[in-house]
Amino acid sequence: IPVSPFDLVIFGATGDLARRKILPGLFLRFKSGQMPEEARIVGSARSDFDSAEFRKVIGAAIAEFLPEELRPADTVAAFLERLEYVHIDATGDTGWSALKNILRDDVIRTFYLSVSPSLFGAIAERLSKHGVATPQSRIVVEKPFGHDLASAKALNADLLRHFAEEQIYRIDHYLGKETVQNLMALRFANSLFEPLWNSTHIDHVQITVAESLGVGGRGGYYDQSGAMRDMVQNHLMQLLCLTAMEPPSKFAPNSVRDEKVKVIEALDPVESEDIVRGQYRSGRDMPSYFEDVENDASRTESFVAMKLKIANWRWAGTPFYLRTGKRLRDRVSEITVVFRDPPHMIFPNPMDGRKGNALIIRLQPDEGITLRTTIKEPGPGGMRLTEVDMDMTFADALGSDLNTQDAYERLIMDVIRGDQTLFMRGDEVEAAWGWADPLIAAWQESGKKPVPYDVGSSGPEEALMLLHRDGRRWRPIG
Ligand code: BG6
Repeated sequence: IPVSPFDLVIFGATGDLARRKILPGLFLRFKSGQMPEEARIVGSARSDFDSAEFRKVIGAAIAEFLPEELRPADTVAAFLERLEYVHIDATGDTGWSALKNILRDDVIRTFYLSVSPSLFGAIAERLSKHGVATPQSRIVVEKPFGHDLASAKALNADLLRHFAEEQIYRIDHYLGKETVQNLMALRFANSLFEPLWNSTHIDHVQITVAESLGVGGRGGYYDQSGAMRDMVQNHLMQLLCLTAMEPPSKFAPNSVRDEKVKVIEALDPVESEDIVRGQYRSGRDMPSYFEDVENDASRTESFVAMKLKIANWRWAGTPFYLRTGKRLRDRVSEITVVFRDPPHMIFPNPMDGRKGNALIIRLQPDEGITLRTTIKEPGPGGMRLTEVDMDMTFADALGSDLNTQDAYERLIMDVIRGDQTLFMRGDEVEAAWGWADPLIAAWQESGKKPVPYDVGSSGPEEALMLLHRDGRRWRPIG
């Protein structure tokens, strides 16, 4: 369905994210016919380009980041025609009136700040001061949204000085993933799961976001943030919220976001014995974390595992175990909901090593859902039990091109449509930092070093123990 005509201004339009994700994503939406004839994209950056040079850079980016079969030359040429470039000094006053002059009054203006957060305030101020933004305009900002509660509050204040909350779109690209949204459909569009979705029936929940890549190339940024700030405060927290939240009364921005904030507010403080931090060491011809960040004394974690308790009626007594890390065995993101055992086993030979019912929501790769069930082992051996997976892969069930749409494509179109449901509200980001800050501070004060783990492993032994000591086990990674 085509969206309304728009003017989209991208600040940082020649930066890594814009070249890798935003502009190729917009191209694919253009190709699919979602972008109307009158839509225009204006790039802006520090370089003193003209529109022709900018088109060349973006043409090269599309060629670099999209496979050949997705980018027919004539479609690319038609897309590039939509691009213009304005040279703007984000912290000075040049270029702003030129920008204002090319924007149209009768279409929605969207400003995408694909720049360092240190520039959010300066750009928001100039958009307002030079009359570029209107009360209908939208502003999109990228992660990291602050590095602690104080800086997140300052960023919110900077934006809110010039834009209303309803105009601000804070991106967490995990919310743009097809399967993450499917989690809401699974829970709230089916009558099957929700009655069981509580501590009476669920023993515990595991949320794993494992990556096989290291931090190579982004060492400088990563060493300042670590897995807590880079992944847990945002992406894993979003997954936790969507898994644990109460059903919103409707699928509308504030109804959904109100419920997510309540989950974060209900989190108990995390005890130090309930959190494990790790750092990968060298192996399999791969550099160690120290080598990747070029800092032998680094105490930044590339892996975190923790046990969380949500203190509310639904979840009291059901822990949520989270883990994420770099250079692990495989790239796997999944949510495993493990159900309690039946109250009484009538069969004389309960199976050895039975793991029990579980619903496994695979976010990536191989997106789908698995329901682990106990059945009778086939054959004449009597009433012996075994476990099988009832497996559903979205690609098989719904067609193979299901997941070709990238999170960015979907989120940018949501901004154009004015739908904030999949964007973080200011109070939500602050609540997540308010939860993460004491954990980060306690860790820094403890002076402890992260525990080492092998490249290609499931993380440190201590993370396995986090579940073992509770009589539980992580699902294997990969
Ligand atoms: C980013 C983090 O936000 O998410 C990266 O900064 C991480 O460190 C990435 O690799 C993971 O995203 P995805 O979509 O590949 O799971």
